[in-house]
Amino acid sequence: MRIARLTLSDRASAGVYQDLSGPEIERVLSEAGISDIEWIRHLMPDDRPEIETLLRKLCDEDQCDLILTTGGTGPSLRDNTPEATKAVLDREIPGFGEAMRMRSFEAVPTAILSRSTAGTRGRSLILNLPGNPKAIGECLPMLIPAINEAIRHLRE
Ligand code: MTE
Repeated sequence: MRIARLTLSDRASAGVYQDLSGPEIERVLSEAGISDIEWIRHLMPDDRPEIETLLRKLCDEDQCDLILTTGGTGPSLRDNTPEATKAVLDREIPGFGEAMRMRSFEAVPTAILSRSTAGTRGRSLILNLPGNPKAIGECLPMLIPAINEAIRHLRE
């Protein structure tokens, strides 16, 4: 399985703080027993055109099964991840974002500020995760059955 993880953050890409979210994605998937992953790793600022270009390449050229983004889903003006994602999707799958907001909202009222979405481009599944590593640990494990099922359907 070829999986790309993209950390989208102006500050982490400038070295203001360390990227903990990207490694957290790998930790969660390995803890879930998903092995045999070929990882493609990126860390970049919240520039929408560059994000769109990279997402298209990861789907169309690199043929990733799964692309997990982290960060840039909030309401600030530099948060561009959902717009860049929607611009490249063939089909949106809103349930991933809805499930994360529902689950997180019970504990963290500000979770509804996340605008994260998901969907498919060709045979690739793209999914936006929140930028906070703790939120990734809370949200990603419950999504794994649906991620696996989506990938299975996309290979048919
Ligand atoms: N989800 C969980 N589980 N825990 C959190 O602390 N923070 C929220 C939300 N989702 C949060 C969460 C906040 S404050 C914001 S602004 C959004 O995620 C967007 O974060 P992002 O821009 O880093 O993706």
